[in-house]
Amino acid sequence: MTTATPATERLYQSGFGNEYASEAVAGALPQGRNNPQRAPFDLYTELLSGTAFTAPRRENRRTWLYRRQPSVVSGRYQQYAQAHWTTGADREIALPPEPLRWNPLPLDGAAEADFIDGMHTIAANGDAEAQVGIGSLMYLAGRSMERRAFVNADGEMLVVPQQGRLVITTELGVLDVKPGEIALLPRGMAFKVALPDGLSRGYVCENYGAHFRLPELGPIGSNGLANARDFQAPVAAFEDGGGAYELVKKFGGRFWKAPAKQSPFNVVAWHGNLAPVKYDTANFMVIGSISFDHPDPSIFTVLTSPTDTPGTANCDFVIFPPRWMVMENTFRPPWFHRNLMSEFMGLVLGEYDAKPGGFKPGGASLHNCMVPHGPDEEAFDKAAHSDLKPHKLDNTLAFMFESRLRFIPTNFALQSPALDTDYADCWAGLQDQFKP
Ligand SMILES: [Fe+2]
Repeated sequence: MTTATPATERLYQSGFGNEYASEAVAGALPQGRNNPQRAPFDLYTELLSGTAFTAPRRENRRTWLYRRQPSVVSGRYQQYAQAHWTTGADREIALPPEPLRWNPLPLDGAAEADFIDGMHTIAANGDAEAQVGIGSLMYLAGRSMERRAFVNADGEMLVVPQQGRLVITTELGVLDVKPGEIALLPRGMAFKVALPDGLSRGYVCENYGAHFRLPELGPIGSNGLANARDFQAPVAAFEDGGGAYELVKKFGGRFWKAPAKQSPFNVVAWHGNLAPVKYDTANFMVIGSISFDHPDPSIFTVLTSPTDTPGTANCDFVIFPPRWMVMENTFRPPWFHRNLMSEFMGLVLGEYDAKPGGFKPGGASLHNCMVPHGPDEEAFDKAAHSDLKPHKLDNTLAFMFESRLRFIPTNFALQSPALDTDYADCWAGLQDQFKP
């Protein structure tokens, strides 16, 4: 890989949705026009459009690539087996109207799987063909992708590592991502993932709908939550030397593979606003209650994928990072509730304040549309009786993929030994305490 710096001090470009420009070889980026008769150094020009040509300017995403071979050069595709990565809502599966929870999915047997073969859909909604909905997935992997690349034509991928660092090589350059950070990989852009720490586990939101963007801030103002400057796009980098590659493509919910004579990571220069990015959740500026009451979790939204209905998201990516709790005369954990929106949660590290015992890092929970949930018996008892001094929730990172569409768990998830069949018992001890 040709890069301007060693991997330990990787260079990035700052911002979200910026008009970035980068060249791995000086002079490779054409100036003044996107598509000169002959591009510098006889590179091929290729446009990757992440939105319709005519999408409104503020939503429009596209990037010009200057590369050694255009991506149209590949061998013939044949079907590829990936049984655990399913797409969209499977309405054949009986969806229980109950809260569901999974213990951490074990990494036993994952040593030989790479990031693609180790992907498991836990629950999904919508329909990739209709460009609606998301999949909530987990990867359980131990092997780096070497001369193998993946293209997802069905959606962009939001990657939330929980155990193990990821080195994500993309057509536009390389991202180093560690637990606590997230990566957003555009639909249709080739990438591969190396696992420098060996066995690795994490969560993925496969977003079939409108691409993720920063939420509006309303009365919060022009600063706060995730700031655009803290997102990092790679600088241009390309692989030297030939040698065969295998391309794996997800296309319409099915998997395909084709041989390639050359690495797809052959982009020498690029410019545009469709780029993979990473973000460190430690840079999230938390807004919270400083008087009383527990605000809606929407104040923790990092990124949102909107629908045509204002304020009703295809997916909100929400985090629960370290923060101070100072509210007075208030039940501080989340209240008991039922919600139109459906909530898939994961835990990267530490504990979650509404479930101090049973929700473990690497686990997951699912509270679907109108399924009641809330603090468990232990959390309720503590929050109702403790002395409300300022208290820091520290060393914790939970997150939520929240969607307007109900998630249907996969057969894999419902039959997994990791499914916590006693989950609902955590509320069984909540007694009628009415004292008129
Ligand atoms: Fe909830």
